[in-house]
Amino acid sequence: MNEVYLNGEFLASDQAKISVFDRGFLLGDGVYEVIPVYAGRSFQLMGHLRRLQSSLGGVRMQNPMSDTDWTNMISTLIEKNGGGDQSVYLQVTRGVAPRDHVFPTGVKPTAFAMSNPLQAVPEKYKQQGIAAITLPDIRWQNCNIKAITLLPNSLLKQQAQDAGAQEALLIRDGYLTEGAVSNAYAVIGGTIYTAPADEKVLPGITREVVLKLAAQGNIPVIEQAVSEIQLKQADEIWVSSSTKEVLPITRLNGQAVGDGLPGIVWKQIDALYQQYKLSFIE
Ligand SMILES: Cc1ncc(COP(=O)(O)O)c(C=O)c1O
Repeated sequence: MNEVYLNGEFLASDQAKISVFDRGFLLGDGVYEVIPVYAGRSFQLMGHLRRLQSSLGGVRMQNPMSDTDWTNMISTLIEKNGGGDQSVYLQVTRGVAPRDHVFPTGVKPTAFAMSNPLQAVPEKYKQQGIAAITLPDIRWQNCNIKAITLLPNSLLKQQAQDAGAQEALLIRDGYLTEGAVSNAYAVIGGTIYTAPADEKVLPGITREVVLKLAAQGNIPVIEQAVSEIQLKQADEIWVSSSTKEVLPITRLNGQAVGDGLPGIVWKQIDALYQQYKLSFIE
């Protein structure tokens, strides 16, 4: 039985209970983070805590814990779940109150965290790439907030799965925003294009790392969204997320991307990313 954290306590997961009046349950009124853990240590933790603060600010919620409290709680949770490689999920909701759209006053937020074994990225995905389909971006106007209201993302990801693909690439007003569960990149003529970190995309922590590594490797980056037409003609397409790292998309809507194999720029970035991870673990 793994242990979870709920409002100041560590509990066996089947002992952790929340009220049916929790606004996370009734209204989807909450935000979350997913943090990868390598060799017992959380990767890019400060970036995730910074984004948590920004998401909380975006929905006018107080952070129930300081960065030090979060850091200590997460370390304990990792230890209680056996160390190694894990994936920490944390969630803050506005708390328990009679159901009303208007925010309650004087209510304590609910803070919850769990950790599960981190699934290694399948080698096949890196050797052969993955498949994606394009779909209209049906999400709201504040995609920079990591909100728990994931019904649009879930519908999109399911549609991709139904089509035999691993990810949906989302098109808003003719331009690529990001994936249903990832940031997206197109490589055109050796330059990496990715949508700017505005309200149309989640400011991915892995995206931050990718942009830093590209700068170190002297690979040009333009933070500009590509059109759907450019996307379909791109030499390479990739997606990134904390638990899946950077993955090449080699089939888009049933057509080969470039020569249908993971591209040379992806290989460069993946090598830099693996090196960066290794230097963190050691
Ligand atoms: C919609 C969306 N965009 C981007 C990302 C990637 O963010 P990160 O690299 O911080 O995991 C995620 C991660 O789950 C996501 O759900």
